[in-house]
Amino acid sequence: MADFGYDVADYCNIDPLFGTLADFDVVLSEAHRRGLKVILDFVPNHTSDQHPWFAESRSARDSAKRDFYIWRDPAPDGGPPNNWISNFGGSAWEYDEQTGQYYYHAFLKEQPDLNWRNPAVRAAMYDVLRFWMRRGVDGFRVDVIWHLMKDPDFRDNPPNPAFQPDQAEIQSFLQVHSADHPDVHGIIAEMRKVVDEFDDRVLIGEIYLPIERLVAYYGEDLSGAHLPFNFQLISAAWHAPQMEALIKEYEAALPEGGWPNWVLGNHDQPRIAARLGEAQARVAAMLLLTLRGTPTLYYGDEIGLPKVEIPPEEVHDPWEKNEPGLGLGRDPQRTPMQWSDAPNAGFSRTKPWLPLSPDWRERNVERMRAERGSILNLYRRLLVYRSEHPALATGAYHSVTTENDVLVYERGSQERRLLVALNFHDEERILNLPAGQTMRIMLSTHLDRDGEVVRGSASLRPNEGLILEPSP
Ligand code: GLC
Repeated sequence: MADFGYDVADYCNIDPLFGTLADFDVVLSEAHRRGLKVILDFVPNHTSDQHPWFAESRSARDSAKRDFYIWRDPAPDGGPPNNWISNFGGSAWEYDEQTGQYYYHAFLKEQPDLNWRNPAVRAAMYDVLRFWMRRGVDGFRVDVIWHLMKDPDFRDNPPNPAFQPDQAEIQSFLQVHSADHPDVHGIIAEMRKVVDEFDDRVLIGEIYLPIERLVAYYGEDLSGAHLPFNFQLISAAWHAPQMEALIKEYEAALPEGGWPNWVLGNHDQPRIAARLGEAQARVAAMLLLTLRGTPTLYYGDEIGLPKVEIPPEEVHDPWEKNEPGLGLGRDPQRTPMQWSDAPNAGFSRTKPWLPLSPDWRERNVERMRAERGSILNLYRRLLVYRSEHPALATGAYHSVTTENDVLVYERGSQERRLLVALNFHDEERILNLPAGQTMRIMLSTHLDRDGEVVRGSASLRPNEGLILEPSP
C-alpha cells in the first residue's frame, strides 16, 4: 500500500486488507448475475519491493531472479546511471548497498520496475493474466502500459525547454528514452494474444501520450490494445471550437477498424466538477455519453463530487508528500463514494481513509435519486437514452458547427439522426437548427424540457446541453 495497490506483492491473490480470493469470486459472480462485467487493473510495469521476486533479485548479483528487474552500475562518479526522474519526484534510481548497483523505479522506490526484456518475466506475467481470466474476469486495464519498454542503452532524457517550476519534477525532462519505446508494441501484441486465448475479454491500456502516438497502441493490424485510453477530454480547453478540433483530430487519427473511447475522469486526475465547474460538469456528461466510442466515467462524478480539501495531516498520496504544494496530490479525487446520509455516507462502518465532501448529507446517491433535476438523474437518463439509441453507441459522428461557443454535432445514419447541442458558455445562446428544421428535445442537461418542439431555432440556457430528434 505504498502506492495504494499499485505495488503488488502477489499477483494471484487478494490483499488480506480487502478480503480473500473466495470474497473476490463472490463479487465476480454477483456482478455477472447482474449483467455487469468486471475488469481488473493489471500492474505489470513494476512490483512491490516486498514481492518475493524482488527479494531474491536484490539478494545477490548472481541470483536467479537478478535479471527480473533493472539493475545498473553506478555512473563513474558513483551517482545514478542516468538522469531519469521518478514520476513521483527525485531520481528514478535507488542505490542498493548490498550489491553495489542501482535499480530503476519509474514510480516509488518501493515499486521497482520489472525487466520486460526478460522472456521469463513476460511468461510469468502472462500466466497472471490467464489466472484471472480462468477465474472469470472480463478483461484488464493495464497500468502505465506505455512504460513497459525502456531504451536498451539507458540514454539520458533531453531537458524539456517548456518546463515551469510549478510543474512536477518529471516534466523537467522529455521522456523520450524512458517510455513509449517502439519495442513496447511487440509486448502488447503478445499480451493481446494471451487475452485472445479466452472469449470476449477486453484489453485496455493506460497511456498518456499525444493523439498521434496514442493511436499506435491499437497495434499493427489492430494487434494491440482494444482500447488505448483516450484521456484528451481531461486536459481539453473548455471551448466549443477547441473541443470540436480535438474530436476531429482523434476521429481522423484512428486506424481502420479501431474503436474509439473517451475518458472523463479517473483516480489520478482532479474531479470533473472541480476542473470545470458544477454546471459544466453536466455538459461534460452529455458530451461523454453522446460521443462515438466507449465512454469511461469515474465513480463520484455522477453525483458531481467536488474537489475535497485534504488537511495536511490527512494527506496519504506519496506524490503529494514527495512534491508538496504543487497540487499534484490525488487524495482529493479518491474520497469515499457518498451513498446516503447514514454515518460515513453509508460507505463504511468505520471512519474512511479520506474525508467526505462537506455537503455529503445532501450530495449522496439516496438523496439525489429523489431529486428530479439532479446530476445523478441526468447520468441515469443519459445512460438509458444511449442504450436505447444505437445511433449514439455506434452511429457515425458528424460535426455541424461551433458558432457562438455552442458545439453542435450529429450522430447516427441518414435514416435516424440525432442532434447534440452543447452550450459551452455562461450565457444564453441561440442554436440555429440545420436547414431550419423542426425538432423535438429528447433530453436537456437541466432535465426540464422533455418533448419540447423547437422550430428553426432553439435557445440554450447558460451551460445547457440538448439532445434533439427530428420531429415528424
Ligand atoms: C498509474 C496509476 C496510478 C499509479 C501509477 C503507478 O498511473 O493510475 O494511480 O500511481 O500508475 O502504478
